[in-house]
Amino acid sequence: MSEFPNLTVIDHPLIRHKLAVLRARETSKKTFRELVDEIAMLMGYEVTKDLRLEPVEIDTPLEHTRAWMVGGKKLTLVPILRAGLGMVEGMLRLMPSVRVGHIGLYRDHVPLRPVDYYFKLPPDAEARDFFVLDPMLATGGSAGAAVTALKREGATRVRLVCLVAAPEGVRRMLQEHPDVQLFTAALDRELNEHGYILPGLGDAGDRLFGTR
Ligand code: PRP
Ligand code: URA
Repeated sequence: MSEFPNLTVIDHPLIRHKLAVLRARETSKKTFRELVDEIAMLMGYEVTKDLRLEPVEIDTPLEHTRAWMVGGKKLTLVPILRAGLGMVEGMLRLMPSVRVGHIGLYRDHVPLRPVDYYFKLPPDAEARDFFVLDPMLATGGSAGAAVTALKREGATRVRLVCLVAAPEGVRRMLQEHPDVQLFTAALDRELNEHGYILPGLGDAGDRLFGTR
């Protein structure tokens, strides 16, 4: 993946299998929701791989010992509304006590520019590790705007977790935010003329919530 040093494709057989079902047109809303949740949880294991650990002293029932715990207590999930909401519960199952911010953005269908309508973060952005969640990275307009908004608040450590990415969006993120590591379950072929990812899975928000 030398063109995209900012990208990690999490290519696990279980994730590939679930993604195939997720993509299929006939998959029901219920199954679609469950799969987004499950894939997010599986990806959560990988995207937290380099979290800092701190030594702690504990007593087992048998003796005193040294163990390790995650040091940075300031992890923060930031779903991009709406579709990013589908990934929150899966991640929270791995990191139940983290805070959750929200960024509301939707793509204007012409000219595909993100429009912002909501922004709520916990305080101390500069001290936090952010995981921005959005199933789809298409043109990269929404993810780029979300990261710009986080940086405006002082964020310096941001990762983006998506399920399906288009090369166009990855390229744009590399240009606009080269410091942001991207994680995806799949790197698809291209965008169509309406900005939809091919082969993709359609409109993630519509399929999750059943509204257009
Ligand atoms: C979708 C998706 C991303 C964005 C990706 O959201 O969830 O946020 O499009 O496209 P981009 O990379 O070209 O910006 P949408 O704007 O449809 O809003 P929704 O989540 O409310 O459906
Ligand atoms: N947003 C989606 O939900 N799907 C796409 O294919 C592109 C943007």
